[in-house]
Amino acid sequence: MQLINTIKELDSLLKFMDKTKTVGLVPTMGALHMGHISLIEQSVKENDHTIVSIFVNPTQFNNKEDLAKYPNTLNADISLLKSVSDSLIVLTPTAKEIYSGEITSKSYDFNGLENVMEGAFREGHFNGVATIVEKLLSLTKPTRAYFGEKDFQQLQIIRKLVQLKNVPVEIIGCPIVRESNGLAMSSRNERLSKTQREDASFIYKTLKSAKEKFGTNSANSTIDWLKNEFLTRPEFKLEYIKISDEEQLLPVIEKKENSKYRAFIAVYMGDVRLIDNIAL
Ligand code: PAJ
Repeated sequence: MQLINTIKELDSLLKFMDKTKTVGLVPTMGALHMGHISLIEQSVKENDHTIVSIFVNPTQFNNKEDLAKYPNTLNADISLLKSVSDSLIVLTPTAKEIYSGEITSKSYDFNGLENVMEGAFREGHFNGVATIVEKLLSLTKPTRAYFGEKDFQQLQIIRKLVQLKNVPVEIIGCPIVRESNGLAMSSRNERLSKTQREDASFIYKTLKSAKEKFGTNSANSTIDWLKNEFLTRPEFKLEYIKISDEEQLLPVIEKKENSKYRAFIAVYMGDVRLIDNIAL
């Protein structure tokens, strides 16, 4: 494994890399779990080299407290990465190094993708995500970059970003990895109590039932049903539930033959905010 903290080191490593070799990039914010590892394993399978970045990007946190609470488990992350493959390139830059000056995000227009769901509830979030991902892509110049469907809106925004900026990279979306009880893996799950973590299995269980309902019911009645299910469980505070098409991420008014739809949810358990989604 090669551990790199500076852009200078990265540049010299890339300079001496055989240009015919393929490079996969897996951007992360650390506190790695099997969701992240699945992306890394896919990249290792599909590319000659894999770069994993670990960087808690301050500009994508709309809430300072959330940033302060974000877990930092660098030593454990590195041991885990070593067990996956000993040939990974691991990039752990500082904010100063990566932003070289003021730590602010650029402003993007993703044709509305950035204004719904996570974008509506986390102001500036996707400007921060796009800023860091654009920087990482330009620094590492990968053949492919890997993102999880766990953050489906983020994945679609990154696809839009590379299209708008003509970045020559293939964006690969990877399926959601779940705990054995169905809870989508997330660094934030660590902040749930044991009981909360068990109770949180309700989210995926309910999404799966919603998928069945959506087969024979309208989007609106499926959403009403979902909302009622969550009302029966006071341990959850629902932020949003949406059923939207995968391309525009706009709420479904009438189902169309050739469109793909997903249900999206953001919900609080105590002060832990959880998101999940399911293809319908
Ligand atoms: P982070 O939350 O660390 O996630 C890194 C990548 O892992 C993202 O593409 C995310 O969708 C994927 N991921 C997380 N949990 C997953 C799961 N249970 N199954 C499958 N994939 C999962 O997302 C970010 O970091 C940041 O916004 C980042 C893209 C790194 C930019 O700062």
